[in-house]
Amino acid sequence: MTTLTLSTASSSKASGTALVVGAYAGESGPVAADPEHAGPVDAAASIGAAGKAGEVTLIPGAGKSTQLVAVVGLGPQAKFTTEVLRKAAGNASRALAGHTSVTSTLSLLDLSAAAQGHLLGSYVFDRYKAPGKAPVETIELTVPQNSKAAKAQLRAAVIIAEGVLLARDLINTAPNDLYPVAFAERATAAAEAAGLAVEVLDEHQLAAGGYGGILAVGSGSVRPPRLVRVSYSPAGASRTVALVGKGITFDSGGLSIKPAQGMENMTSDMSGAAVVIATVITAAALELPVAVTAWAALAENLPSGSSYRPGDIVRHYGAHGEPGKTVHVLNTDAEGRLVLADAIVRAAEEQPDLLLETSTLTGAQVVALGSRTMAVMGSDELRDRVAELAREVGEGGWAMPLPEELRDSIDSPLADLQNINWDRVGGMLIAGHYLSCFVPEGLPWAHLDVAGPAYNSGKPYGYQGTGGTGVPLRTLIAVLGDVAAG
Ligand code: BES
Ligand code: MN
Ligand code: ZN
Repeated sequence: MTTLTLSTASSSKASGTALVVGAYAGESGPVAADPEHAGPVDAAASIGAAGKAGEVTLIPGAGKSTQLVAVVGLGPQAKFTTEVLRKAAGNASRALAGHTSVTSTLSLLDLSAAAQGHLLGSYVFDRYKAPGKAPVETIELTVPQNSKAAKAQLRAAVIIAEGVLLARDLINTAPNDLYPVAFAERATAAAEAAGLAVEVLDEHQLAAGGYGGILAVGSGSVRPPRLVRVSYSPAGASRTVALVGKGITFDSGGLSIKPAQGMENMTSDMSGAAVVIATVITAAALELPVAVTAWAALAENLPSGSSYRPGDIVRHYGAHGEPGKTVHVLNTDAEGRLVLADAIVRAAEEQPDLLLETSTLTGAQVVALGSRTMAVMGSDELRDRVAELAREVGEGGWAMPLPEELRDSIDSPLADLQNINWDRVGGMLIAGHYLSCFVPEGLPWAHLDVAGPAYNSGKPYGYQGTGGTGVPLRTLIAVLGDVAAG
């Protein structure tokens, strides 16, 4: 990861070979966010810069070591937000790839946002191919005072960015290299390195425990399923949060197979699991005073002679040794809810104070909200708070209802439930209803459907490259912060 440092030196004495300055979009051209940099901003204006969000204009530098100044657009000052700044910092990081050391003055506007935008924007996934230009090695952030508060802000921003990048690394690993056992091993290594307790249930333990959903979905693959539990329990924590993530390491659809085009993107169907594991590790690194247990429900959904079938009836995990609910599988591509139902029941058995589940659950989420706004369902108060926090951290989120009249469309004549209906309406909400059937009465919960936001299959933008995004890690950390604050 790119290293960040703090400096109070005037940027005329900047040590980086490139300098980043911000410019708002004024009525008659760009306006330097910091008057000290009116010079380069005017120079950028003379070659067409307007200060629009997304804009990066490179001009020759004038300082001792500064070869280049990147003037980054911040949009109209009246519309400025921390997310605008995060994206601007990310754009600058991407534009300056190939430079070893950069000095950024964006931190004068908001240290945390600038730090996160720079770190997340600098990330490249290089496991299979070296990047054309190496990411920036060091970014010196200009601050008015190198105070204790500034150091603490930087530290938190770095820890959160590390969490996002851990999730991105897992998501970006190809499905031939990241199958349930491999995921469990990597999660175990990362969690143990953070001093956390880890338990992994293998296929035999899953069978003995009655985890019929996870086993059914995993049955088509020669690579067996896993359920991973990672817990962080700081002394004195009075509240416990359960995090549950969908970990389909590849979703072909199974026998209800998906069309070929775009199927490769289903390598990202374990994003929820990656994020909950990264979140509990991040919570521990931040020393948040709240206990957190993360559950990753891992399986590979493939068609084969051993796979589960449309028509199968399987029994979910039941709490406290009671028989779990039965489900008539009508579509093997609605597999996420099957692994999640087992994990939700298991997580709730430990009586957390609240439960947050996240998954790349439905294509209908993308149809409804596009690829950059997650859908949040669940109990009213928590749902609304989570959606609000998602917007605050810049991940984007919108509350969605679980309309009563849709609930009985997944009642089954043969089993307690069926995993889909054949109506073409409200698919995202039906999936939410399915999960809600496994949440105990009275437990506040939220379901974050990140089918679109978890993965960027298009071009890079802001602090996001092509591939895994790490959404909704920053939202979950904000919720944990909220819980910790009382
Ligand atoms: N993993 C997919 C959902 C998905 C779609 C995620 C697009 C990311 C992008 C999920 O398992 C799935 O296949 N859902 C089906 C449900 C349907 C069969 C009821 C869907 O959305 O089509
Ligand atoms: Mn599917
Ligand atoms: Zn899926």
